[in-house]
Amino acid sequence: MLDGNKVLFSGMQATGNLTLGNYLGALKNWVTLCDEYQCFYSVVDLHSITVRQDPAELRKRARNLLTLYIAAGIDPEKNCLYYQSHVPGHAELAWILNCFTYMGELNRMTQFKDKAAKHADNINAGLFTYPVLMAADILLYQADVVPVGKDQLQHLEITRDIAQRFNAIYGDVFTVPEPYIGKAGAKIMSLQNPEKKMSKSDENPNGSIYLMDDPDTIIRKFKRAVTDSEAAVRYREEQPGIRNLIDIYCACTGKTPEETEREFDGRGYGDFKMAVGESVVAVLKPLQERYEALGKNKDYIDKVIKENGEKAAYFANKTLRKVQKKVGFPERVR
Ligand code: TRP
Repeated sequence: MLDGNKVLFSGMQATGNLTLGNYLGALKNWVTLCDEYQCFYSVVDLHSITVRQDPAELRKRARNLLTLYIAAGIDPEKNCLYYQSHVPGHAELAWILNCFTYMGELNRMTQFKDKAAKHADNINAGLFTYPVLMAADILLYQADVVPVGKDQLQHLEITRDIAQRFNAIYGDVFTVPEPYIGKAGAKIMSLQNPEKKMSKSDENPNGSIYLMDDPDTIIRKFKRAVTDSEAAVRYREEQPGIRNLIDIYCACTGKTPEETEREFDGRGYGDFKMAVGESVVAVLKPLQERYEALGKNKDYIDKVIKENGEKAAYFANKTLRKVQKKVGFPERVR
């Protein structure tokens, strides 16, 4: 690990099929952040069971996601890629932090309200305390920064509140984390409804590009992407569909919106959609190939899972022991 660097923590759930939005908006940036930070990237499977999951499916997806982290270019020697469920400290710290979190605070969480509405038949206590587990994830590693999407900012805010509250009582135990606001990841919208974020749980599969879609499928989905009748490739509020395609094109090619406007000046949407589709294929194909190759290397992935899980547990335990002592749990007899 890169000792001395600032610590970064983030996590993703292994539910649903990851989309181009997840890649361009998060995972791609995670890779570049590795140069600057000591990164912990977790597959947050404890969070996933707040909603009912098929066990075999969850297990498979968790492994696929961890493999994808590596395929995307995160080096498991220099960073820590692991399953949250392999480090018991997450659940242990979450319990302690539950006792420093108020019902009123959790009641205000918009994600809880949304999920409770969506899963009205299973509003379990885990769904309610989900943000506390997330706080435990972050504080356990004394993370300085956390790259998160807008939808998770409220959870990061409560994490800071819990950390500050705990520190005020017991002294400086936790690093108070900051949201990572750097070169923001592209926010990719649905190809069928550019007002809506591209989502892994979209009912319309034409709205999302999945990371494992083959080239023909990718091109076909871009050809069908919803646009407008302006017939001009312009980066404007009034053309959300085209704007989204420009964002995707720029994220895949490194070009700017202005360069893109110039490149497609006077050309039709057909041409442009084709070019966007091809730029996405050019990014996803090598990713898919690395992912396939890694998937066949079972021993290597197993080794990463074991070693990185142990590495994570080492850092987690350092914080956990300190916290346990602070709150008054008895010392362990050696
Ligand atoms: N709740 C996050 C999401 O759904 C995932 C997550 C869990 C996370 N623990 C985290 C993200 C800690 C950042 C830091 O996107």
